[in-house]
Amino acid sequence: MGVVENSKLTVVGAGSVGTSLAYSALIRGSASEVALYDIAREKVEAEVLDLAHGTQFTGSSVSGGADLGVVEGSHVIVVTAGAKQQPGQSRLELAGTNVRILENLLPALLERAPDAVIVLVTNPVDVLTVAAQRITGLPPHRIFGSGTVLDTSRLRWLLARRAGVTTSSVHADIVGEHGDTEFPLWSNARIGPVPILEWRGAEPFSAGELDEIAREVRDSAYTVIRGKGATNYAIGLAGARIVEAVLNDERAVLPVSTVLRGIRGLDGVALSLPSVVGGDGAVPVAETPFSTEEELLLRASADAITASVATLGI
Ligand code: 2OP
Repeated sequence: MGVVENSKLTVVGAGSVGTSLAYSALIRGSASEVALYDIAREKVEAEVLDLAHGTQFTGSSVSGGADLGVVEGSHVIVVTAGAKQQPGQSRLELAGTNVRILENLLPALLERAPDAVIVLVTNPVDVLTVAAQRITGLPPHRIFGSGTVLDTSRLRWLLARRAGVTTSSVHADIVGEHGDTEFPLWSNARIGPVPILEWRGAEPFSAGELDEIAREVRDSAYTVIRGKGATNYAIGLAGARIVEAVLNDERAVLPVSTVLRGIRGLDGVALSLPSVVGGDGAVPVAETPFSTEEELLLRASADAITASVATLGI
């Protein structure tokens, strides 16, 4: 797609994640126009109005509503819509409900914006990325999930605080499922140019401490959800960052979730690997180095996602 002038982002879903993403995109100037679409008319119209009332202070314009025409002209569509997990409801039941929603939604979105790059945020994001790619038949680079971009930001924040450096000087990624089987690629993690286990600072990292940090990242969403019922701000920012990489054709390396085609022996499953994100979407970096142990963890993560997909009847 190249660098897009007069770019349009449509966020589908006006819940806490969709509105935080739209707000983040507005204040970061991620797109020239930010549109919000939802079937709940009163809610989406109120959210659009509230965002529009702030446009004196942003460089972007705001539009949106409950008619699918909102989507027309979009260069990127971010899907945050879907059922939320209810007490007593399993993750798989959630996946089934959200796949049914995507079956109706995606063809309608593509009818209005046939060339858009589609980014899925709705959970379970890896399972839904597989479903979305199958439903649309789009090439995997054009329809991908936000994956572990958020988890990676959580990891870098924790490491930066501990090492006493700024987050942008931490080079470390969470890969695999956006969920319980995700893990950090410690074999590659660096602070500035220094491999993580060689960083001295006030005190070196121990292997046990790195395990604890990985666990804290994995449990982050549970911790936030326990306190406030949902996570929204950090995923909003992560989503806006992905959108910028596409609209500015940045070719930024971000750990998004794509359907893999023969990469590291994995086929048909979606999970996050460092990927080049630009105007045409996302392409995983196949040559990312993995230790033997990390290779096994990746396989276990892929198996968990594949098992989940297999129960969906798609
Ligand atoms: C998060 O990791 C729940 O996927 C959401 O914040």
